[in-house]
Amino acid sequence: MADAAQLKRVTPPEIRARKGGEPIVCLTSYTASITRLIDPDVDLILVGDSLAMTIYGMASTVGISVETMIAHGRAVARTARHACVVVDLPFGSYEESPAMAFRTAARVMAETGCAAVKLEGGAPMADTIRFLTVRGVPVMAHIGLTPQSVNALGGYGVRGRHADEAAAILADAIAVDQAGAFSVVIEKTAERLSRTITRRIAAPTIGIGASVMCDGQILVIDDVIGMFTEFRPKFVKRYAEVTNPIAAAVRTYAAEVRTRQFPGPDHVFGP
Ligand code: KIV
Repeated sequence: MADAAQLKRVTPPEIRARKGGEPIVCLTSYTASITRLIDPDVDLILVGDSLAMTIYGMASTVGISVETMIAHGRAVARTARHACVVVDLPFGSYEESPAMAFRTAARVMAETGCAAVKLEGGAPMADTIRFLTVRGVPVMAHIGLTPQSVNALGGYGVRGRHADEAAAILADAIAVDQAGAFSVVIEKTAERLSRTITRRIAAPTIGIGASVMCDGQILVIDDVIGMFTEFRPKFVKRYAEVTNPIAAAVRTYAAEVRTRQFPGPDHVFGP
C-alpha cells in the first residue's frame, strides 16, 4: 500500500482551507482503473457507498459491508497520487456510539490508507464527529438527503423545501461544522437553503444536487460517464456515454471469435 504520508496528496486541512476559494472538484471512484484516470483532475476522491448500487447492483446503499468498503478503499488509495481519498463508513458501522464509530474509522483508515472518512447525519452525529476529529480522524459530514436513511425518510425526495425541514437541516449543518467536520456534503437539498448553509458555516460545502454556490461539487463517476443507466437523477450531468463504445467493442470481439478472425497472427506465439 502506498504510504499516504510519503505521497503529496491533497490533505483534509487543505480541503478545509479552500472555503470560499476556487470550487473543490470531487468525484467518486471505487477501482484502481478509474482512479488512475480521474486522479490528476480532481481534488478529492470519495470511495462512496454508492458502490452498493453502481458496482454491486443493490437497490440501496443499506446492505454494503465494512469489508467491501475496505477492499475498494484500498484499491483507490493504493492508486491515487494527487487527490485526497475519503472512504464512506457504511450503514450500521458507526451510528451506535462514538466509540464504535472510532473503531470502524480507525480500521478503515489503517487498512485502506485513506486520509478521512465520511459519515451521514447532522446534529445527532455531532458528538461522534467531535469524538473522531479530536482523535485524529478527519470527518466529511453528509447532510440533506442521506441515502443510508432511505427507509426512515421514505424515499429519495428533495430535502429542505419546507420551513421546518429547512431549519432542521440548517441546524444539522451548524452542528457538524461546530463538531469539526473538515467538509460537509449537501445532497439533493433546496438551492436557497444550500446557499444559506454555505454562507453560514466555516467548513466548505460540497454539493450534489445542491447549489452552484457550494464550495465544491461531487458526482458519482458512473453517472458522469454514463456507466450507470438504471436511472438518472435530475442533478446529474452526463459528460460522456461510455456504454455504447463498450457494447460495440464486445460485439466486434464476439463476432471475430466466432469467425476465427481473433486471435490473429500478431496475438499468438511462434513455434
Ligand atoms: O456514496 C456516495 O457516492 C456519496 C456521494 C453521492 C456524495 O455519498
